[in-house]
Amino acid sequence: MLNRQEDLTSKLSQITPAQQGWISIGLSLLHEEQYAPCDLYRKVSAHLWRIGEPEYVLFAGKGLSFGRDIQKKLAFYGIQNLFIREKDAHLYYDYIQKVTQEILHDPVSTPEKKAGAVYDCCREIMRKVYDDPRAPFLRLAEEVITPTVDLIMSDDRTTNCLVKLAGYDNNTFTHCTNVGIFGIALARSYYGEKAEEDIRRLGAGFFLHDLGKCKIPLEIINKPGPLTPTEREIMQQHPLAGLEILKKSPTISEEAKLVAAQHHERDDGKGYSSGLVRVEIHPYARICRIADIYEALTSDRSYHKRRTTFDALKMMKGDLVSDLDHELYNHFIRLFAIG
Ligand SMILES: [Fe+2]
Repeated sequence: MLNRQEDLTSKLSQITPAQQGWISIGLSLLHEEQYAPCDLYRKVSAHLWRIGEPEYVLFAGKGLSFGRDIQKKLAFYGIQNLFIREKDAHLYYDYIQKVTQEILHDPVSTPEKKAGAVYDCCREIMRKVYDDPRAPFLRLAEEVITPTVDLIMSDDRTTNCLVKLAGYDNNTFTHCTNVGIFGIALARSYYGEKAEEDIRRLGAGFFLHDLGKCKIPLEIINKPGPLTPTEREIMQQHPLAGLEILKKSPTISEEAKLVAAQHHERDDGKGYSSGLVRVEIHPYARICRIADIYEALTSDRSYHKRRTTFDALKMMKGDLVSDLDHELYNHFIRLFAIG
């Protein structure tokens, strides 16, 4: 039997932190009509450089306009991500929030454009938070999650676009963005507008539910096959590891922390980390679980190919979720039927 604490401590100590001083960023919010908010770098394969030389080369200097030339250069190098220096993080995250707010408040923005901007902004912040979950970045995540909650509470057409946008890739930060959007939309559908204050207070829990996974070794998270009992036990520590991280943030609500700690609990008591039963589980953690199961089924994972929405919903209704709450499930299905 695994000595849980010793083994977990030794596994966690093997984790390599993100490359010191550099932050990976996506390209979706670097719009053509905008300017580089700070120096942007591309990463060059280490073998092209002598030992000790930097691996990052300047791609676009601060203030450079994102014209066609830049778009062509990105395509030429086949670049999916750029990098910024950690000291410039505030410039970049201010920039993506500003761009997103401009799109949200532009009277001619379509629901599709608004949804795209909010989705990309959430993903960018989640990318950072899941890589480096320190309190300042958790606060930043809350700043972005609040307008996302507002949007989902007030704009059905944009919510419908957001639900459809939920992307397909196997990054933890994409998964958490998707679960965040599904969770808030399901809570709103199930509890109605009267729950707006609750959802605002604990919506961050949906987005940050898997934060503890950043403490689990990548070889376990990405293992292309069934986990051994020991690996499974380590993996099942992630809700409580997430709780420990969130406890350090004074602004995250206690209920949001419970969502993260309890999102793998089951009504029948067969879940983890504490084997709670239905009445003991926070209602929003139960909502998070439905969103989480659906998202996992419809995403490519190391151990399975993604299912269609129809197949995933069918599997959930079948044997896969034996303790399924049918009322909650019926509200979940409706998210995909609007519009
Ligand atoms: Fe999880």
